[in-house]
Amino acid sequence: MKIAIACDHGGLRLKNVLKADLEEHGYDVEDFGTYSDDSCDYPDYAGPAAKAVASGKCDKGVVVCGTGIGVSITANKVDGIRCALCHDVFSAKATRAHNDTNMLAMGQRVIGEGLALEILHAWLETEYEGGRHDQRIKKMMAYEGE
Ligand code: RB5
Repeated sequence: MKIAIACDHGGLRLKNVLKADLEEHGYDVEDFGTYSDDSCDYPDYAGPAAKAVASGKCDKGVVVCGTGIGVSITANKVDGIRCALCHDVFSAKATRAHNDTNMLAMGQRVIGEGLALEILHAWLETEYEGGRHDQRIKKMMAYEGE
């Protein structure tokens, strides 16, 4: 599975931890930056990562900033993206099972690295349940382009 990953300066340290862990677990990771802790604008990095997921170049995406909010809002502006901001394991599992999210956002200033790794794996390893959720996702996605 190929994972797009991106961050701003506020998420660099956590992104590097997540990236190393993903690679250790055999995931193919494409890193869309940023690569330094110089101040930058999160849409410049979260946007291209989201486009890579939307186009099918990457299967899923993980984005990090200080709060996780800016990168999640950015990713959700790209058609085809359902990005969930998660800071707990329950939500990470639920959003895969119910919302079939294709991107995960987290905030480096909100949670520690250990919890972030648990959330990452819970999210990656939970399957979408389908069924009654299909029509809800269809209705949600129908707002795109309106
Ligand atoms: C950067 O200071 C900070 O605003 C950014 O990382 C993020 O938290 C925005 O939502």
